[in-house]
Order: sequence, then structure tokens, then C-alpha cells
Amino acid sequence: MNNVKDYMGSGGQWVPRLERGSSSKHQAIFDALVADIANGQLRLGDRLPPQRAIAAALGVDLTTVTKAFSKARTDGIIRATTGRGSFVAIGAVDESRGPYANFVSHDLSRNSPPRLAKIDQALAKEVDTALSLGTLAGVLNYQDTGGNWANRAAGANWLAKRQIASSPERIVLTSGAQSALFAVCHLVTKKSNHVCVGRFAYPGIHTVAFQQRLQLVPLAMDGEGISPEAFEDACQRAPIAALYITPTLDNPTTATLPSDRRQQIARIARQYSVAVIEDDPYHDLIPGAPSPIAAIAPDVTWYVATLSKCLSPALRLGFVSVPSAEASTQIAATLQAMTMMASPLFASIASRWIYSGFLREAADELMHENEERQKIAARLLYDQQYETNRHGSHLWLKLPEPWRATDFTNQCERLGVITLGSSSLSVNSPFVEAVRISVGAASSQESLRDALTILRSVIVGGQSNANRAMV
Ligand SMILES: Cc1ncc(COP(=O)(O)O)c(C=O)c1O
Repeated sequence: MNNVKDYMGSGGQWVPRLERGSSSKHQAIFDALVADIANGQLRLGDRLPPQRAIAAALGVDLTTVTKAFSKARTDGIIRATTGRGSFVAIGAVDESRGPYANFVSHDLSRNSPPRLAKIDQALAKEVDTALSLGTLAGVLNYQDTGGNWANRAAGANWLAKRQIASSPERIVLTSGAQSALFAVCHLVTKKSNHVCVGRFAYPGIHTVAFQQRLQLVPLAMDGEGISPEAFEDACQRAPIAALYITPTLDNPTTATLPSDRRQQIARIARQYSVAVIEDDPYHDLIPGAPSPIAAIAPDVTWYVATLSKCLSPALRLGFVSVPSAEASTQIAATLQAMTMMASPLFASIASRWIYSGFLREAADELMHENEERQKIAARLLYDQQYETNRHGSHLWLKLPEPWRATDFTNQCERLGVITLGSSSLSVNSPFVEAVRISVGAASSQESLRDALTILRSVIVGGQSNANRAMV
């Protein structure tokens, strides 16, 4: 069934308004098309003028318009019907098919690192080698929960570069950071179920809290992260079992906790016997990141490292440094009930890459790619208020009035861009209208540019979009 309505609407007279700042003329035409769909000037089903007419109106070559149209077709924004022309295939509001009927082409809601061909190829080669080498037969079978000794030693070696003095008996391998967080929370909340977190926190800790019926205690944050005073205050008010913290490039706020706050938090945790769950997936992406809390107070800190952000989430590999050898036996028992063990095949590949230096190389490449993507964001959001780190894979955009985060994410989703609103990240505390945008998740720099162009047009279109009748 052809779901594109055949009517001219206002599209028949459409002339793109070219803004400065686009990288080329055809990109400017594409951007104008997206912007006019977002602001409602073009609607789903509108027939666009012939390409030749647009070229004549703009005084540009026909091939320039053809290029813009063909990109819009590939992205699912317009649809061409032989002999009848091109039609708008998405709409700011698709009244006939409901708000979620449009094709979603850019999912920036999941905080992924960029996909890099270099990493994909290296992984393919390593898997191939591992499978073909008879000497690696051990990795094709079950292993002890927590990982074999060689892989734990590799983990200790990796974390030593972060000034963490661990040892193989205090390192445990997990299937990514998420399962580590579940296991650690399960273990350290036996006497009290109160866990302190920043007032905005990584969605995965909310999931764990929900499943384990934990009571999250929100702490005040500022541009440098969690306030130590708020942490101490919470410790004085109630029996706190643990503090969950992402000290470097916080998710979502992007704050990096300075050394003195890390020292203060370590002191408070020791004084009130609170376990620190230090979730540090972004450490290798941030040059000069301060030493982790685990380097200051290893006796109370459960340090969670993962390869997901500095290599690939596909390996599902985390390395946890725990306070003692006894703690590693305890957490292994929990992990055995959950996932049995991390993938031995990927653990062996990761260990080789820790020693060969490829892990560092991959992190450098990702840092560089993130930096390029942050520049694209800076160009498109130059007049907006947002927090970021130039090497990070996400940013935290504060929405201007009159936007509410839920309306904004809904409106962007109708136009094919998914972001994560602040309500999914906040712990029942005074609300901030903001969205987390993962620049790493876009399939390419070009796709990011397109997605942010749509997003920008929604922000700028503010009042008219927000006033859409809610019935
Ligand atoms: C702070 C934080 N912790 C943990 C994770 C999940 O890591 P993994 O893929 O290793 O489970 C993420 C992913 O976005 C994250 O941002």
C-alpha cells in the first residue's frame, strides 16, 4: 500500500531557503527540506516541485538538487514515484497514522561509542586467529567464574595504568559493567538498601535499583559532579550502604569529579563505612583524568571498568577490582548465579590487546572520532546551553523554554531522531528539562549532522511545535 497521500499541499510552491553554514549547496538544500518538515511548512504527503524548477529558482545546477533529493530518498525523508514526482515521506505530525508511525533513522538515545572500521576489522581478525590456533583451545570452553588467572592478571595490568594497585586475586571479569553493577549492589546492600547517587544518574543503576528494590538517595550535583557535602549529609541522616558514582565524564551530565572531591568522598565513605561503587567506563577517553577513588581508598571501593566505551560494547567485558580477595570470592558466587562467567574467547582477545597496546590505540581512535563529532555538535548547537567534554561520546542539552523534555523527545522521535529525556535519568528530585544526546551512536558523522539538524529545527521551531493540540 502506498501510504503517501497524493496532494500538492504547500509543497508544490516550495523553494528551499538556504542557510549559511552547510558544507555544500546540496547539503544546504537537504537541510532546508528537513527544517521545513520540522517547522510544519512541508507536511507528510506533500508533492515537491520538480527538481528542475527548484534548480531554476535557486540558480543552481540540476545535479546539485538531484544530489540533495537522492540523499533525502536514502534517508527515507522523501519518496519518489515514477512519473509523478517526489513526495514528503515523514511529517512533523502524521495525523492519520499516529505519532510514532514515522520511520526512525537516527537513534541517539543509546550511549554507544562510534563504530570504527579499524576496530571491527581487528576484532574479526582476532576471532579468526583465536579460533584457528590450537593453543587457544582453552578459550572455547567453560572457565572459572571471575575469569582465569591470565585474564585477571591482564586486568590488573590495565588498571595499573589508572594508578589502581590491584592484583589478580582482586580482579573479577564480568559480562560488561552492567552485570558487575548488579552483582556489586546485590552484595553490598545486605544491611541497608539505601544507595546514594547523583540526582541525575546512568539509567542502568535505576534498572538495578528497581530490580533489587533499592532506595536511591539523590545527591546534589554541580558542574564538577556529586557534592561531597551532600554525600556526608546523607550518611548522617540514614544508614547508607553504598555510593554509586561515575567520576569521569558522568553519564548523563558529563561532569568529571576533581581530585579534591575524590579525596573527600573517599574519606567520608571510610568514616561511615559506605561502599563506593565506582563506575568508570570513560576513563581511557579523557586525557589527564584524575586518579580513581579506588586508587585512594581501595579498601572500600568496588571499581568497575569496561571495554564498552573504549573498544566495543559487543565484547560484553568488564573488569572489577574489589576491596579484597575474599570479596572477589563473594562476588564470583553472585556472578555464577547470573551469567556464570564472561566470554572466555573475548577475555582472551582483550588480554592480548591490553599487552599489545591495541586497547590504548583503539581508545585513542575513539577519542579522536568523538572529538570530530563533538565539533559537529558545537557547530549545530552553538547557541544552545549544553554540557560536554570534547572527547566524550555524549552531551547533555538543557532545553530552552517552552520545551518540556517529554514533548521534545516525542517531537524529535516523530521526525526520526531518538534522544533520552531527563525523566529517564533523574532520581525524583527538582526537575531539569534536558536531554542526553549520544553523538557516538550515530552511524556516521554525516548521519549525526543530519540528526542534529533535525533536532536544531525542533528547538528553534519551539513555540509552534510545543503548541500542537494535546487531546
Ligand atoms: C556509566 C555507565 N556505566 C555502565 C555502562 C554499561 O556498560 P556495559 O556495556 O559494559 O555494560 C554505561 C553505558 O552506557 C555507562 O554509561
